[in-house]
This record gives sequence, C-alpha cells and structure tokens, in this order.
Amino acid sequence: MELLEVLARRRSVRRFKPLPIPEEDLEKLLFALQRAPTDASAQLYSVVRVKDQALRDEIARLSGDQEHIRQAAEFFVLLADIHRLERLLAHRGQRMAPWPRTALHFAILDAGLAGAYLALTAEALGYGVCFIGGVLNGVEALVDLLGLPPGVLPVAGLAVGVPDEEGPPRPRLPRRLVVHEDRYRPYTEADLEEAYQAMAPYSRVGDWNRVLRRYFAEGGTMEERERPYGRALARQGFDPDLPQGAPFYSLGALVEEALEEGRGVLFRRGEAWLERETEAFRGEGRPGEALYTALRKARGEIPGWP
Ligand SMILES: Cc1cc2nc3c(=O)[nH]c(=O)nc-3n(C[C@H](O)[C@H](O)[C@H](O)COP(=O)(O)O)c2cc1C
Repeated sequence: MELLEVLARRRSVRRFKPLPIPEEDLEKLLFALQRAPTDASAQLYSVVRVKDQALRDEIARLSGDQEHIRQAAEFFVLLADIHRLERLLAHRGQRMAPWPRTALHFAILDAGLAGAYLALTAEALGYGVCFIGGVLNGVEALVDLLGLPPGVLPVAGLAVGVPDEEGPPRPRLPRRLVVHEDRYRPYTEADLEEAYQAMAPYSRVGDWNRVLRRYFAEGGTMEERERPYGRALARQGFDPDLPQGAPFYSLGALVEEALEEGRGVLFRRGEAWLERETEAFRGEGRPGEALYTALRKARGEIPGWP
C-alpha cells in the first residue's frame, strides 16, 4: 500500500486473530525499527520482544489487563536505554557525563521513533498495531520482570498482529489548532469548543472530555502513574537529585518521608543529618545521597553510628 493511503486508513487495533507473523515479515519490522533516525547516532533505545507467554500474561496483568497484549502475535516493550551507551564509553575507558534529564529526553524520543517506524511498516504490510502506554501502570514491577539495568526504562509496549476488527480512522484535532505559524498562537474558548466538536466521534457517547477527564484530570490515570514513574526514574538513574536506586519520587518526597520519621533534617555542605528525639543519623554526599543514607541508618537498613 502507498504510504499516504496507509496513513489515511490506519487506526489502532485492539482485536487480533490468533495467527503468527511469518519470519520474513518480522524481519521487515525489525529492519524498520533500526532504520529510524536517532540522536547523534547513539540509538538510545532497546526493545524486548516478549516471546514467553507467561511473561506476556504478567505484563498484560500489570498493564491494566489489556487483552490485546495477550492476543497479539507479537508484543514488544520499547525501552529508553543509555546503559549500552555507558558500556560503550567505558569500553574505551571513558566515563559518561552526568546528563540524566537530557538523556531521558533523547532516549524516549529515540525509542518512540523506532517504535513508530516499526508500527507504520507493520500497518503498511497489513498488520494492526497498538501502542501500550499502560505498561507504565506497573512500571516498577516491569523493571524487575524484564531485568532492566540502571539506565534502562520502559517507554511503551507495542502489540502487533493480524487485525480482527475494522473501522473508520479516528478523528484528529483541526489542523490549525495543532500547526502554528511562526509563533505559538493562544487558544480562544471558541477554539477549544471546536476541538471538542471535532473529537466528539472519538467517544462512543460523543463526548471526548470523558476520555480526557479519565486520563488527565485530577484523580485520573496519569496522576496514579506519576509517583511510581518518578520512583522508577530514580531507581534507574534518571533523577539528577537522587542517587541511583533510591525508591523515591523526588528529593522533595525523600525530605517529606524523612521528616515523618524524625524531628528534623539538617543539611550542611557534603552531609545531612536526620534527627530524632534522642538520636541523629548522618549521611554524606550530595543532599539526596546524604539524606537517603541518613534515613536508611535511622531505619536500621545499614549499620553506622552516627
Ligand atoms: C504512547 C501511546 C500509548 C498508548 N497506550 C495505549 C494503551 O495502553 N492501550 C490502548 O488500547 N491503546 C493505547 N494507545 C493507542 C491510542 O489510544 C490511540 O493511538 C489513540 O486513541 C488514537 O487512535 P488511533 O491510533 O486509532 O488513531 C496508545 C498510543 C500511544 C501513542
């Protein structure tokens, strides 16, 4: 099929026939994955092709029990990956710079582009695909399940298979609300109303706001994901303020937890103290590292006095 025709017709597929993808097509999909552009040639992504059905079941369960994860012929987990880059530099005797935020930016982009190239190629070959952001629902467990080293983070899943559903393409926002000319144009109330009207067919009951509210308003899915995701970032070494492995959403969250367990927290250059009524626990290093050590001492997780 011609590319523009594929784009015009494509829609995410969530029902698949129980048919495999032949080796020669799988080869094309993985070829497309690797042909995607990548920042500075670094290829800051990996994918895990999940072949083991028990593992697939567990990932489906962790991702909100999405049945299409189980049904699809193939399921990939797209990963932001700076671990391999760190190894490549170390192999030549160099240390990687501290750049966790920028690394995350480019690694997620690389993983997304590679996934999109694979997905579009699959659609051009007549397969159906569905990206799965739901893998973030259980992101901490997924890190364990896939054995991800520091520097590697799940970005999204990608289900690919033979479609068992048809339907029209889903709506999009009016182009002028998405494509700005020269400068970002502020949105008027009328623009926002137009957006809701254009997107109404997206929802079965004709109200796109129901979808947005469920995901993005207070108490929605994204808010639920936020803290576990932050903890996964710190654990995998993508938080510049916390030592790699610290199970905290942020430095602020670590301070709050330390204050709940003690009477006060004191920072000095190169050290932090966690005070209780009759004792104080000391940690060394940058603020996050120092306080994390002090808290672990207070909890009896590591020996050391003070
Ligand atoms: C990053 C990302 C995450 C997504 N996560 C899910 C998901 O967890 N489950 C699902 O069924 N669809 C998921 N989708 C599919 C979107 O819901 C879909 O692309 C969107 O509603 C537009 O519909 P269309 O792709 O049919 O045009 C995801 C898509 C993207 C790009």
